[in-house]
Amino acid sequence: MSFPITRHRRLRGSAGIRGMVRETMLHVLDFVQPIFVTYGTGVKTEISSMPGVYHFSLDTLKEEVDEIVELGIPAVLLFGIPETKDAVGSSGFDENGIVQEATRLIKKWYPELLVIADTCLCEFTDHGHCGMVHTHTVDGVVHGDVLNDPSLELLTRTAVSQAKAGADIIAPSNMMDGYVAAIRAGLDEAGFEHLPIMAYSVKYASAFYGPFREAADSAPQFGDRKTYQMDPANLREAIREAESDVLEGADMLMVKPALAYLDVIRTIRDNFDLPLVAYNVSGEYSMVKAAAQQGWIDEKRIVLEMLTGMKRAGADIIITYFSKDAARWLRD
Ligand code: PBG
Repeated sequence: MSFPITRHRRLRGSAGIRGMVRETMLHVLDFVQPIFVTYGTGVKTEISSMPGVYHFSLDTLKEEVDEIVELGIPAVLLFGIPETKDAVGSSGFDENGIVQEATRLIKKWYPELLVIADTCLCEFTDHGHCGMVHTHTVDGVVHGDVLNDPSLELLTRTAVSQAKAGADIIAPSNMMDGYVAAIRAGLDEAGFEHLPIMAYSVKYASAFYGPFREAADSAPQFGDRKTYQMDPANLREAIREAESDVLEGADMLMVKPALAYLDVIRTIRDNFDLPLVAYNVSGEYSMVKAAAQQGWIDEKRIVLEMLTGMKRAGADIIITYFSKDAARWLRD
């Protein structure tokens, strides 16, 4: 008896042919590795909810950066944990702040490694919000309103100080109204017309940021970020957010988180032609690590499948805490 051999089977039958007809290919050049830098000396502390991710002080940072460069990862995204916090987040725009110092060091060690600066104040404010707030107490409960325009001024100062320190890309993650235009104007005025802005255009108010807030010590002390981050239920609003960032001068767009928002990535890809970034956030990382530690999943296959899904959905660049792991697995 003979069975018809279908075209599908002919195309999937050998590993060689499967490779030739593969539509989506992950590459180490797609990845951005986030790094958390902190004050002090001799610090390399694992973030308990993010196994394999550490806080580094400036004197232990080199080892991590060496590894990233050796693996061929083209870019890092810097987050800073400062020694002191205040109401306006002044350590965020201090010329000698932790992110600025780390940027100068990395660019000295490896001029070709791209440094992306996260431009936000939530790690630097004592209340944990992304800008300036006005607080008032009602029946013993603290309420706060984020002050949009004064915050823009501080965020612009932050971006300019990061640019002066040598950052290659400015990535404002605060979602204030008009933030891209304000930062663009500030950068241009300071002589950084050439520096691109990677806008966190489509950023949802998500529970997936939980472990990051431990890592960056940036959980809001009152209220939440719902007034400036998006409702996870909304897709059309994502197009409006991206559109306004494009009009304000964004050079790259971002969707964040990634895994539960692949339709959003696809929609933004289909509606805009700017490079698109997917942020595979902390909670997405921790879930996989936790299950892998239990032996419940095959970590390598799960991670590569997830990252491939993000790329297939339309992402050009993926910010992921798995960058080093994925780079190693792709090399094997
Ligand atoms: C804001 C910022 C956050 C993340 C990246 N930039 C926190 C937030 O919006 O609350 C989250 C990233 C992650 O969860 O991995 N500076």
